[in-house]
Amino acid sequence: MKISAFLHFAGFGIKTILLRKKEPILGTIILTDKCNLKCKHCSVNNITAVVHPYEQIRSEMQQLLAMGVRILFFCGGETFLWKDGEKTLKDLVAEAKQMGFLIVNVVTNGTFPIDLPQADLLLLSLDGDKERHNAVRGDTYDTIMENIAHATSDNICFYMAINQINKDAVRSVCELARDTKNVRAVSFNFHTPYPDTRELALSKEEKSECCQVITQMMKEGAPVFNLKSAFPYLINNNFPTPCHQCVVMENGKLSVCGRCIEVPGLCEECGYFFVAEYTLLFRGNVKIIWEMLRTYLKYI
Ligand SMILES: C[S@@+](CC[C@H](N)C(=O)[O-])C[C@H]1O[C@@H](n2cnc3c(N)ncnc32)[C@H](O)[C@@H]1O
Ligand code: SF4
Ligand code: SF4
Repeated sequence: MKISAFLHFAGFGIKTILLRKKEPILGTIILTDKCNLKCKHCSVNNITAVVHPYEQIRSEMQQLLAMGVRILFFCGGETFLWKDGEKTLKDLVAEAKQMGFLIVNVVTNGTFPIDLPQADLLLLSLDGDKERHNAVRGDTYDTIMENIAHATSDNICFYMAINQINKDAVRSVCELARDTKNVRAVSFNFHTPYPDTRELALSKEEKSECCQVITQMMKEGAPVFNLKSAFPYLINNNFPTPCHQCVVMENGKLSVCGRCIEVPGLCEECGYFFVAEYTLLFRGNVKIIWEMLRTYLKYI
């Protein structure tokens, strides 16, 4: 991370904590909900299957920038399916950087060839070892591993949503993140139980067991891009929600925190680690501040 970016985030953090501000710093743009997969745990794919046009995405980027957002995520659907005429995802990432976003990350299912060195992080969804990943995501594991091996940059971070199918594969994903070329780290979430996937949710005890495994793997040197001080809050679902410093833009519509804010009661069962990490950070939790500084400077 550049020193100028670090100073910007530090200034934002201090102002937000001291003045209890609710302005956003992290924004996500949904490029499309179209997807080539139909994962068992996912409730947001192929609802409209519209690929949003370039001019619309550009205008959404400008709106987020004007609101103060400096960390931008492109998400989907599948982001690598996005194109408009000659414009591809690569152009969007480069343009976001030119516009003034300080960190630009892309979330992908990894099933398309990976050539995106312009992104700070490519969050690549890997949902377990081969057997369990394929049980969640169809027969995609080998293709993904091939794409990672041939990636043109080492900015990949595994992104695992832990659920009833893959809860015993946390250790193996940590080991793979440590041992795979082009992979920098792994970041976890717990399954967030949308009404159609409630059966995949973990109990408090199961979340606690997963956090014990992740903590042990961190001790053994696995590159985990999460904050262990947030684990007790994630296990007990007692972190503040929603996250006012995060916004999502989908087809011109802005939501605070996530698109899921509209699902009644879901925030009380939220499994997204970033929500716990950011809300605790901006409440001034000293342990989280310290751990975030160390973790972010290590992986971005
Ligand atoms: C919706 S996908 C979009 C990007 C891309 N298609 C992918 O799979 O990475 C973004 C991330 O959300 C995760 N996800 C989907 N449904 C979830 C849920 N109910 N709870 C937690 N994470 C979920 C996916 O596993 C993926 O890592
Ligand atoms: S690849 Fe991503 S968007 Fe597509 S179904 Fe799976 S989780 Fe959902
Ligand atoms: S469930 Fe609520 S708290 Fe969690 S990401 Fe969605 S909007 Fe935010």
